[in-house]
Amino acid sequence: MKNIEIIGTGMAEAKRQITNDDLANIVETSDEWITSRTGIKTRRFCGEDEDATSLAIEAAKNAIASAGVKPEEIDCVVCGTLSGEYVVPALACLVQRELGFREDIPVLDVNAACSGFIYGLEVARGLLNSTDGHIGLVIGCEHLSRLLDMEDRNTCVLFGDGAGAAIIQTTDSGVYESVLGARGGYEIAVEGPGEVRSTIKMDGKAVFKFAVEAIPKCVTTLEDKAEITLDDVDMVVCHQANSRIIDHCVRKMHADSEKFYKNMDRFGNTSAASVPMALDEVCKNGLAKVGDTLMLVGFGGGLTWAGVLIRIGEKK
Ligand code: UT7
Repeated sequence: MKNIEIIGTGMAEAKRQITNDDLANIVETSDEWITSRTGIKTRRFCGEDEDATSLAIEAAKNAIASAGVKPEEIDCVVCGTLSGEYVVPALACLVQRELGFREDIPVLDVNAACSGFIYGLEVARGLLNSTDGHIGLVIGCEHLSRLLDMEDRNTCVLFGDGAGAAIIQTTDSGVYESVLGARGGYEIAVEGPGEVRSTIKMDGKAVFKFAVEAIPKCVTTLEDKAEITLDDVDMVVCHQANSRIIDHCVRKMHADSEKFYKNMDRFGNTSAASVPMALDEVCKNGLAKVGDTLMLVGFGGGLTWAGVLIRIGEKK
């Protein structure tokens, strides 16, 4: 099985910026509570003319441009999402239709909640290897604002909309390791279509406890598999659920906090979009360059967890 490396990234921000004070006008909360408990200051919600499809398309276009690939070179498309406008067609298929990819390629969505983008990387690696493909598009995209109960202060202050994408290519060299798992559980749940509009329900405390175990477990598993330590990793991009979760794990692992990127202050928790959005910022802000090794770590609903050790490369 060939390794994969990242050769381009992109993201799409939803139009409407929602501050903590905006939410304090809707539910009994405060900027002080949200900031101190989560590190979130603002999040973005889709505007009238935006949805998961438009965000996924924009992020994909940006990733394709940054990698310097042509649409016809894409050999598979995988999208991590739990909030596309349609159950069928898959969001990945809507991106394919809009961007004019070839028809003889696998195109599908993956629902592993907040671990969806990292699961997507592994699924894309498997598909590229099994189909003799070379270049894949992996997207993480969410329109969570339409799944929020704006009367539930336990959840409505946490989540936001957005999309991120990466272009990967297979390589015979480089570093690549992965770890995927799940416990099964209803701690974060969104019911399927029914008479009542579905909204996100979450047992925040239980998920927090799960998350602070999941991140170190992914990191140490990847370190062991690759026979490296975090010193050999240039940046770590974790799911951006809560800055206290990342701080807790950094302390527990005696790690360098500078290596753990954070942008939940501006975007909140965007589930499957959070890792690729943060990844795009890390690449665009010069925190990672060609040849660098990144660790991406996710955890979330279904009580899934996922991590990859992956290198930044250039189109061959
Ligand atoms: O992406 C999926 C992964 N999701 C996560 O990783 C989320 C993990 N969990 C968390 O990030 C945290 O558990 C939360 C941010 C959700 C909650 O923080 P917490 O420190 O665990 O707070 P809590 O749930 O224990 O609530 C403490 C208090 C409660 O009041 P009482 O019962 O002590 O009187 C809550 O009712 O804070 C209250 N509270 C709020 N107060 C003001 C809950 N939400 C709010 C709010 N504003 N928005």
